[in-house]
Order: sequence, then C-alpha cells, then structure tokens
Amino acid sequence: MNPKTILPIFISLVLLAAVIIFAAGCKSDSTSTTPRTGTITQAELDNVTMRLDSGITGDDASNAFTAVNDTLTVKHKLRDLFASITKSTSVSEGDIFIRKAYYISSTSYPKRDSVINFVVMVKREAGYYPAGNDWEYIKIPYNATTDYKAHPFGLLPADTSTSTAPDLTKTSLRGRLQAQCATCHAGASGDFLFSR
Ligand code: HEC
Repeated sequence: MNPKTILPIFISLVLLAAVIIFAAGCKSDSTSTTPRTGTITQAELDNVTMRLDSGITGDDASNAFTAVNDTLTVKHKLRDLFASITKSTSVSEGDIFIRKAYYISSTSYPKRDSVINFVVMVKREAGYYPAGNDWEYIKIPYNATTDYKAHPFGLLPADTSTSTAPDLTKTSLRGRLQAQCATCHAGASGDFLFSR
C-alpha cells in the first residue's frame, strides 16, 4: 500500500480511538462523580444494615441529652440506631441515619416491646436546608399493615411539601422539620448527629 492511502486510514483510526476514550470518560463521569441530588428511594432505606448503637435508654449524658435538655426523646423508651455508613466514615450526600424506638416491656427491663416509630435523617445536597444542616428529616410511624420483612424501617411517606421554608408545624412527616427535629438536633456536637 502506498503511504498516501495509509496516512488517512491511520489518522481515522487515531480519531476513532480518541472518540471512544472520550466517550468512556464521559460515561464514568456521569455515574461516579456527579453529586447526587434529591432524596432517597424506598430501596435505599430498606438496604440500611449498619447497627450503630443498641438499646439506648433514658437520659444518657454521653449522647448529649443534657446539652439539649431533652424531655421528648426519653419518651421513646428504648432506641436502636442504624446507618448506611460506619461511625467513623465522614458523612456525604445520600447517607442515611435511622433511630428505631420501642416501648419497653415491663416484665424484663430493658426489653424491646412494640415499635413506636422510626425517625430518619438523610444528608441532602448543599443548600437544601441550611438551618437543618442540609438534612432531610423523616418520621415514619409504626403501621401494623406494613411488611417489615421487606421494609425493616417502614415505608417512606410521600414527599408532598412544595415549600422550601423550615417547617414550623408539628404534623408533617417529612422534609425540613424544624420544630419537630432540627431545633433539638442542632444541639448535637457533630453535624446535628448525636451519635457522633
Ligand atoms: C428533644 C430532642 C430531639 C428531637 C426533637 C428529635 N431528636 Fe432525634 N435524637 C435525639 C437524641 C438525643 C438522639 C440520640 C439517640 C438516642 O438517645 O435515642 C437522636 C437520634 C436521632 C437519630 C439517629 C442519628 C443521630 O445520631 O442523631 C435520628 C436519625 C434522629 N434522631 C432523627 C430525628 C427526627 C427525624 C426527628 C424529628 C421527627 C428527631 N430526631 C427529633 C434527640 C432528638
């Protein structure tokens, strides 16, 4: 073959290779480095497996109760904490923390009786809710009709709020729950988390 025909073929091959490498680079960018925004899915909640703490009862000074003068949490008799990351992993967007609260069985203390509720914090995108340290706060009451084998922490309530203002009501189940959650959690020492 004469060099005049080889050269254009060679250049085309180099260009093709460059296009393939560039496309592959773009693809990995969009799956791994694009910051996640938005809230979690039911599947992500179901898949939380890490047990952070177990059998917390009463007014434990070690988890900063005294700092927040807590009179509400102690009503949630006995608590287990779960998370999508370990205690020493730094928190990033999409990470999930869960507190499961039970009544205490009166016969053998401290024994877990029926579940009261689940409270969940999801780390959201920067600017989502600055006054709440960009956490989304979710309350999931116990519901006898829920399949807890499939959904160990219950079913996510619908995200219905259209307002981005801190929620000062005490009725919403989800979002920027200032009055119900964030005001107290602001008293925790690390990133609004008492377990840190
Ligand atoms: C009066 C204070 C107070 C209020 C109000 C409160 N919490 Fe908490 N929360 C605590 C304390 C204290 C802990 C530490 C664990 C324990 O002692 O049960 C905790 C633990 C948690 C955890 C486990 C992660 C961690 O380490 O902090 C989550 C998730 C959570 N709360 C979510 C919520 C949500 C959602 C609401 C609102 C519906 C809420 N909390 C309201 C005091 C409060």
